Amino acid sequence: MKKIVLDSQLVKVKVAVEKLMLGQYVTELDRPWLESPFLFQGFFLTTDKHISLVQELCQYVYVDTTRIIEKETEFLQEDKRKNIVYPPPPKKTSTFFKEITQSDKIFSKTLQLIKGFLKNIEVNKNLDIDEAKKAVDQVVYSVIKTPDALMWLTQLKKKDEYTSQHSMNVCVLSVALGRYIGLAENELKELGLCGMLHDMGKMLIPDKVLNKPGKLEGKEIKIMKYHTVLGLKILKKSKGRVPLSVINVAYSHHERVDGKGYPRGIGQDKISRPTRIVAIADMYDALTSDRVYRKGCSHLEAIDIMAKMSGKHLDYALVLKFIECLSIYPPGSIVELTNNEIAIVVEVNQDEKLRPKIILLLGSDKQPRSEKVIDLAQRDKDIGGEMYTIRRTVRAVDYDIDIMKFYNRGVLQKGFSSL
Ligand SMILES: [Fe+2]
Repeated sequence: MKKIVLDSQLVKVKVAVEKLMLGQYVTELDRPWLESPFLFQGFFLTTDKHISLVQELCQYVYVDTTRIIEKETEFLQEDKRKNIVYPPPPKKTSTFFKEITQSDKIFSKTLQLIKGFLKNIEVNKNLDIDEAKKAVDQVVYSVIKTPDALMWLTQLKKKDEYTSQHSMNVCVLSVALGRYIGLAENELKELGLCGMLHDMGKMLIPDKVLNKPGKLEGKEIKIMKYHTVLGLKILKKSKGRVPLSVINVAYSHHERVDGKGYPRGIGQDKISRPTRIVAIADMYDALTSDRVYRKGCSHLEAIDIMAKMSGKHLDYALVLKFIECLSIYPPGSIVELTNNEIAIVVEVNQDEKLRPKIILLLGSDKQPRSEKVIDLAQRDKDIGGEMYTIRRTVRAVDYDIDIMKFYNRGVLQKGFSSL
């Protein structure tokens, strides 16, 4: 590849977005990267759509004038990294508000079942795979209609139930990603089972290692890594036929696409697609959950970390799809609007991901207001005549918002059931 370098130092030039050209390398935006839908801090403008998106979000950007590379070669390289083309995601056939009551029942029932499995493994009983399959089928039917309601429920994390909730969340997030990339119903059912059972081996890891409130060292790391082998053993001796893909995911979900994972250190080509999907869902839920040894990351921090890990730790193309699937404002995010009001996101608009459906919670004075649903894609205006628009995501805790309490009040189930 012929690379034309004008200067050994980075030369940043401020460029108004109307003047951007294909092939330029953007190093900096006029807003924080985390508030943009771009996955990487620095990227080539490879398509007209790419330029339009920058123009929609920014007034100016900085371009690195030293990054002039023969365009075709660079673009080809980019294409090669994204060599898998997934079909557009299927259309949703239901809404968040129509699904939430049923999804809540499915979520609670499946969570109870997982807790039962975990207990059985601890006391050395087999897990009943047919029960697990029935529960996953319900999750899949709900996610096929719309993933928003179950994804919203994955945000309600209880501190004392990490392992069971993590298994549930990884199941839901894996199925949501599988649906997004166009997998068939039977594939989604198998994938859901893979997600639900991927970490069963952890139940045989001693508590002092599993829940150590600090960094694991030496032998402890070895013991922890052994949960993949234990998972394989548990699933192999389970009652009923466990699909091979499920056993494989339990054994291989800590493998990395660059071959530096464990237990075998196999690379991208040898890691199955269900394993690569579950590894992404597993990483996202682990990063966004509070643990004994650290606080959970925000959604944007998590996807930023995952974008950086893609191509090394995680599958590049699937991470892109996962971030697209969750969007910048996934269900359950708390956002501040440009008129200073605070809202919670309930439903992603597939065609306008920066304009989801939200419920207003706090007024511009940050005091509770009567809850109201706004579909940002409709471009409604507030009383001051300003169009409702998201400014940024915020942390619920900073505004004294308890999502669990809000949910338990039943506002979602009763208040807006006609929407
Ligand atoms: Fe694991």
